[in-house]
Amino acid sequence: MSSIERQARDLLLLLFSLSLFHLGTPAANAVDMLDDGRRNITDGETLFSAGGSFTLGFFSPPGVATRRYLGIWFSVSEDAVCWVANRDRPLNGTSGVLLLGNAGSLLLLDGSDGEVVWSSNSTGGKSAVAQLLESGNLVVRQRPDSSAYLWQLFDHPSNTLLPGMKTGKNLWTGAEWDITSWRSASDPSPGPYRRGTETKGLPENALWQGDTKRYWTGPWNGLWFNGVPEMASYADMFTYQVTVSPGEITYGCGAFGLCNVNAASTSFCSCARGFSPASPSAWYMRETSGGCRRNAPLDCGGDAGATTDGFVVVRSVKLPDTHNASVEAGVSLKECGERCLANCSCVAYAAADIRGGGGGGHGCIMWSDYIVDLRYMDKGQDLYLRLAKSELDESSTRKITAAVIAAICVACAAATILLLLGYMIWRNFVMHHGQFKTMMKLTLK
Ligand SMILES: *[C@@H]1O[C@H](CO)[C@@H](O)[C@H](O)[C@H]1NC(C)=O
Ligand SMILES: *[C@@H]1O[C@H](CO)[C@@H](O)[C@H](O)[C@H]1NC(C)=O
Ligand SMILES: *[C@@H]1O[C@H](CO)[C@@H](O)[C@H](O)[C@H]1NC(C)=O
Ligand SMILES: *[C@@H]1O[C@H](CO)[C@@H](O)[C@H](O)[C@H]1NC(C)=O
Ligand SMILES: *[C@@H]1O[C@H](CO)[C@@H](O)[C@H](O)[C@H]1NC(C)=O
Repeated sequence: MSSIERQARDLLLLLFSLSLFHLGTPAANAVDMLDDGRRNITDGETLFSAGGSFTLGFFSPPGVATRRYLGIWFSVSEDAVCWVANRDRPLNGTSGVLLLGNAGSLLLLDGSDGEVVWSSNSTGGKSAVAQLLESGNLVVRQRPDSSAYLWQLFDHPSNTLLPGMKTGKNLWTGAEWDITSWRSASDPSPGPYRRGTETKGLPENALWQGDTKRYWTGPWNGLWFNGVPEMASYADMFTYQVTVSPGEITYGCGAFGLCNVNAASTSFCSCARGFSPASPSAWYMRETSGGCRRNAPLDCGGDAGATTDGFVVVRSVKLPDTHNASVEAGVSLKECGERCLANCSCVAYAAADIRGGGGGGHGCIMWSDYIVDLRYMDKGQDLYLRLAKSELDESSTRKITAAVIAAICVACAAATILLLLGYMIWRNFVMHHGQFKTMMKLTLK
């Protein structure tokens, strides 16, 4: 081996070991835990998850350098904050300390006056440890290897849903899991938007602005949220976990999932047959409060279920909000229709579960009183919509009228074209004829 080759080899080895050292740094020296060895971190210090993905520390949002927050961010950038402890109570300066208290709770103290700005409220005694896990979860537990958490950040999301977090409701404690927007890019205090899971009726995810529900995904049909069929296309990237049990109703993203609040479908909006937009401009903006208005009232309220109403199948729609819908699992679609017709307050029905395909599903969702935001979309579901007899009939006369109008239009167009053609031929002939005559005259002269 020549000396140049040896030098090159040594250089490569050096670079290789340097890069190993660099990669190894976080894992080898990572401080991801508060325990007896170290019970606090002050502003400027950080906890680093074992694999280096997440960092916990103090930060200031852009433009407000004097306000300090305790947060967790993706280590790639301090701007990628995914959790904030003291959202409402910024520290005025760098005196903050995160301390594992002797009672087993995490305390964020204002070091200048010792005031507790935030607390995990967990109790575990002096032997408890706190650890920033590679998942981004900050946990308090009795021993470093204990799988039972006395407290975990994943039960208290801020504005970011990380894989392993969930939204929904704990039915034992009544606690809700949801995420709330920041007030602005420089203010992490809770803003007006809240994203969570509607737990009444069939579970579905929804976005609220204050108390107003602005967007919802449609109910879970066993495979995807009815209003977000794109989910089916990403099935190999995301896993979805919907849990409906006596303990909880929750929706969560599995491995690699990053829930996207913007994953609304780009569906084409129109009103269903028998309905007209109450406010077309608002409808265009997806403002659902106006929605569609029924053209003709239903015929109901007569003697014992007597009605002339019927159903139209609206194919492939995003099912309406299930907040007020009633659900019966063990009912066939046919029985579902009979029940709906027999109840004056029922305005539509659909299958609750479309797994198994083919027969249109089973189970029964019935909507009462009124329906807003009916939308057509790819991979939607069939909705059986109750309409007055006149609307059912009208559709057929309308079709005939449309066909007659179409036929007349075609005939008119054909006649016009023929006339135009005839005129052009005639004009052409006259012109040539005229030219010929003029030429003859000139020649003769
Ligand atoms: C933080 O820990 C250090 C020792 O690591 C200690 O000197 C200091 O007093 C602690 N600060 C608080 C506020 O407990
Ligand atoms: C920071 O200062 C503001 C205004 O002076 C005050 O309202 C707030 O309570 C202070 N924050 C803390 C954590 O002391
Ligand atoms: C801890 O308890 C206080 C007072 O009851 C409460 O305001 C605070 O929200 C609790 N903190 C957490 C993280 O639950
Ligand atoms: C549910 O029903 C109640 C009372 O009938 C009504 O006030 C409310 O607006 C309905 N909610 C939805 C989402 O349809
Ligand atoms: C009709 O439907 C409404 C709403 O779902 C329900 O409250 C009521 O009990 C039903 N009536 C009958 C007779 O089933």
